[in-house]
Amino acid sequence: MGSTSLVAVADRPADSRADRPTLAVLASGTGSILEAILAAGLPVAVVVVDRRCPAEKRAADAGVAVELVEREDFGPGFDRDAYTGRVVDTLRRHGVDTVAMAGFGTVLGPALFSAFPDRVLNTHPALLPAFKGWHAVGAALAAGVRVTGCTVHLATEAVDDGPILAQRAVEVLPADTEASLHERIKSVERALYPDTIRRFLEGTLP
Ligand code: GRF
Repeated sequence: MGSTSLVAVADRPADSRADRPTLAVLASGTGSILEAILAAGLPVAVVVVDRRCPAEKRAADAGVAVELVEREDFGPGFDRDAYTGRVVDTLRRHGVDTVAMAGFGTVLGPALFSAFPDRVLNTHPALLPAFKGWHAVGAALAAGVRVTGCTVHLATEAVDDGPILAQRAVEVLPADTEASLHERIKSVERALYPDTIRRFLEGTLP
């Protein structure tokens, strides 16, 4: 009996991640994308927020650990590297090996990407490389594009850059406001991002 179960464990692929929490989600806002990740049953070990925000409650309601790594300085003297170090320490403490950013409002420094090489994911509400930056939806609307969308990509030190993993188009409607368009994009992100994260963890992305 005992040897049977030992063989079963030994036969499991060394990189199997299916049965242990390995994922951290970084959020700052409403947390609707976080909620979709949690609802999809992905192995989230911890949610890290940089400020008090509704995402904290979404994580707590799902019974997932929440860490507030509070950013106190939003001015020009902000020590990005020191703050990044605090986030990396928190992630290491929870033993995660993959990080999914879901509306995190602080640009993190190089230490994050060296701690988790090629294992930081992001979702962006535009068809990258178009409309990088925090105001992507408003910028797309102002540019008069008829189609925009969302992009899941590997995050790198350069903001909203890095290899694209998945994209979906979203039509811009004549009556759209920034809020209505963003909500329609987010409804697509809430399906695309969890699905892409799952395939990333399984190693089944093309
Ligand atoms: C999403 O559109 C994401 O792409 C962007 O921030 C938004 C987060 O939405 N980076 P929510 O707070 O999860 O509702």
